[in-house]
Order: sequence, then structure tokens, then C-alpha cells
Amino acid sequence: MTANNEARTGSAREKDFSPGQLIIALDYSDPGQARELVEKLNPLGVGFKVGLELFLAGGPPLVKELARRSPVFLDLKFHDIPNTVAAAVKSAASLGVWMLNVHAAGGKKMLKAAREALQDQKHKPILLAVTVLTSMDDQEMAETGCPGTTGERVIRLARLSAECGLDGVVCSPLEIDLVKNHVSGNLLTLTPGIRPAGENAGDQVRIATPDRVIEAGGDYLVVGRPVTRAPDPYKAVQNIFAAMQIV
Ligand code: C5P
Repeated sequence: MTANNEARTGSAREKDFSPGQLIIALDYSDPGQARELVEKLNPLGVGFKVGLELFLAGGPPLVKELARRSPVFLDLKFHDIPNTVAAAVKSAASLGVWMLNVHAAGGKKMLKAAREALQDQKHKPILLAVTVLTSMDDQEMAETGCPGTTGERVIRLARLSAECGLDGVVCSPLEIDLVKNHVSGNLLTLTPGIRPAGENAGDQVRIATPDRVIEAGGDYLVVGRPVTRAPDPYKAVQNIFAAMQIV
């Protein structure tokens, strides 16, 4: 997968940003709608994200089907005891997905178990750890018993993820700089919470425009509603490409 290789060479910046680094969230409960969008957007070379909603509707067969045609990020955010997460990571890898994720808050043993689970797999997806959800702010984090700022927690969880050998982290676009400059280990960043200028934030709190992600040196962008709810999703992706200076 070219986007992956380009990002891994460490030069995913403005001039060589490629279409595959844009991932469209297929947040549908109807597999038919997801297939229709993939059909429309596949020629643009983007990746696709299957989250809980679509996974519960279409299950593993749908993931396999989509992964045969396009790069698929399976966003199920595993967070359980190490043994269970390791088994889930293996099962996810066997579906042929390009990328998958676990929650960094699951701790060191869980993260290492996830990493080790992929070691003997023929197909090794990119393994990411979710730091702090982009829908949360400092106050909401405090309510869950985590003191400090979201930025501090992102750094702490990103360091833990690097220590455990993960390939990258999911964070908000506002924290790319923190991960790239305050965490060793060359972690990839994947950032949801992307809103083209003038778009509704919805339930997202820590957001930024696509060009801001490029400037900050981010690797992958996840965009959902600004594309899936656009009257013309193809045009909406083209507009995002233009903001990212992909021609
Ligand atoms: O519609 P929107 O662009 O907000 O969609 C963002 C997508 O990214 C959703 O599918 C959401 O589940 C996902 N996501 C997120 N924050 C994370 C991880 C994933 O918003 N930390």
C-alpha cells in the first residue's frame, strides 16, 4: 500500500501527501450505503474506515469484501484484558485489513500482547493505539478520574504505545506536534476530528482543518460526516484534496 510506505519513510508532508492518507469513515448502519460510497470514492484512491456501527451491521464478511478492494482501517478500538485483545487482534488481521487499533489506556501488558499477536501473522496490519478521544476535553477527562490536560495525557499514552512497539497513535490534529516532537519512536499519527473550514463540529471538540494537519506533519486523516453527509461526497473529497494541496 503506497500511502503506508510513503508515511513510513517519514516524509508524509505537504509535497508528497498522497490520496491514500485520507481515510473516509463509513459510519453507516446499512452495508448497502457503505458499498455505494466506496464505489463512488474508490477511483480517488482514499482509504476507508469501518467502525462499530458498520461492523455490527455487516460483520467480518463485509470487512473482508471491502478489504479486497480498498485499504480498510478496522476501527474497533479494542480495550480488554491482554489475552482477549491479542485474540481479537489476530482475528482482525485475518480479515485482511490494512490498519487496526486498540485503546492505549488498556495498559502496557495489553499493548504488548496486541503487538506480539501480530508477530507470527502472514499479514501484519498497521497497529495504532487510541490516546484520548477527539470528542473529549480537559473537563470531561477529569470526570473520568484523569487529572491534567488532554495534551499531557496524549503524550503519556503515546510514550507508552511507542515503548510497547506500536506503529502509531490516534490523537486529535491539535496534538500531532506533541507526538512528533515530544515522543521518541517515530510514531505515525492518525487524526479524526477533521473539519473543512466552515463545517459543523458535531460532537467533536478537539478539531482542525485538513491543511492544519499537513502543516503539523500528520500522517493519516479520518473524515466522516463532512463527506458522508455531503450532497456530493466525491466533490467533498476533492475539496479536501485541494485544501491538502493534492492535485
Ligand atoms: O464524522 P466525523 O468526521 O466526526 O467522524 C470521525 C470518525 O473517527 C468516527 O467514525 C469516530 O468514531 C472516529 N474516531 C474519533 N475519535 C477517535 C477515534 C476515532 O472521532 N479518537
